[in-house]
Amino acid sequence: MSKKIFLVTGGNKGIGKAITTQLAQAGHTVYLGARKVEEGMKAAEELKAIGDVRFVQLDLTDLGSQAAAAEQIQSQSGHLDGLINNAGIIADYGMASGVRLENLRTTFETNYFGTIMVTQHMLPLLRAGSSKVIVNVSTGLGSITQHGDPSWPFHGVTPLAYNSSKAALNMFTVLLAKELRDEGFRVNAVSPGWIATDLGGDSAPGTPEEGAQIAVKCALEGPDGATGLFLTTGGVIPW
Ligand SMILES: NC(=O)c1ccc[n+]([C@@H]2O[C@H](COP(=O)([O-])OP(=O)(O)OC[C@H]3O[C@@H](n4cnc5c(N)ncnc54)[C@H](OP(=O)(O)O)[C@@H]3O)[C@@H](O)[C@H]2O)c1
Repeated sequence: MSKKIFLVTGGNKGIGKAITTQLAQAGHTVYLGARKVEEGMKAAEELKAIGDVRFVQLDLTDLGSQAAAAEQIQSQSGHLDGLINNAGIIADYGMASGVRLENLRTTFETNYFGTIMVTQHMLPLLRAGSSKVIVNVSTGLGSITQHGDPSWPFHGVTPLAYNSSKAALNMFTVLLAKELRDEGFRVNAVSPGWIATDLGGDSAPGTPEEGAQIAVKCALEGPDGATGLFLTTGGVIPW
């Protein structure tokens, strides 16, 4: 196995910490991105026991932090093999008829604009790497097709800001995959399932370790792996 270098955003807790753990356990170097220095350093220090995990300060809403993170990775490693865009927020559960503009903006600032800007900052490093993998952690709640099916178990889960920010992220995924296909990139969106984290809540049936699996699988697939798809551990789901 060749040792690869990954960046995981929001790596200090939840699904991102589990993704970081699994990639490090597989023998890869992982930059653990976190917006809060203390929490990121603490998580990275803890995970150093299992592998090569390095803290990098990275805030999806701060372009300066993204440029500095890219510089740090460039000077320490010179390239990245994969980017896992995991960080995300759910600001509120406001529905389409009454969602607050402020919450729509806040959610899109992180989940959509922020993810795109992080990706753009990391692209030169990814172009210099060999695997050229980008994994966007989305959600089945961002699937417009599934919301059209009244028998879908999550049909009633309708926070507009969160769901539409992830639907937009899905479009970013498809268009980026098309644009970068000829350069050998593989760009996919994944749905981790309903997972017990601060975001998913205590009643969720899945563990962060289970939620991390599809992102890790995509990150480690070889050059013949999928691109431009929306994936869960069960296979492809509709956009
Ligand atoms: N849990 C679920 O059921 C579920 C289902 C489908 C999809 N997802 C997706 O999975 C991803 C991870 O969620 P999770 O469940 O693990 O939630 P979580 O435990 O709340 O973790 C979210 C992570 O994102 C980070 N983050 C938030 N805003 C950020 C910003 N501006 N810059 C950098 N990092 C930021 C958080 O950092 P702080 O610690 O500083 O807040 C934290 O590390 C999200 O994209 C979420 O939409 C989750």
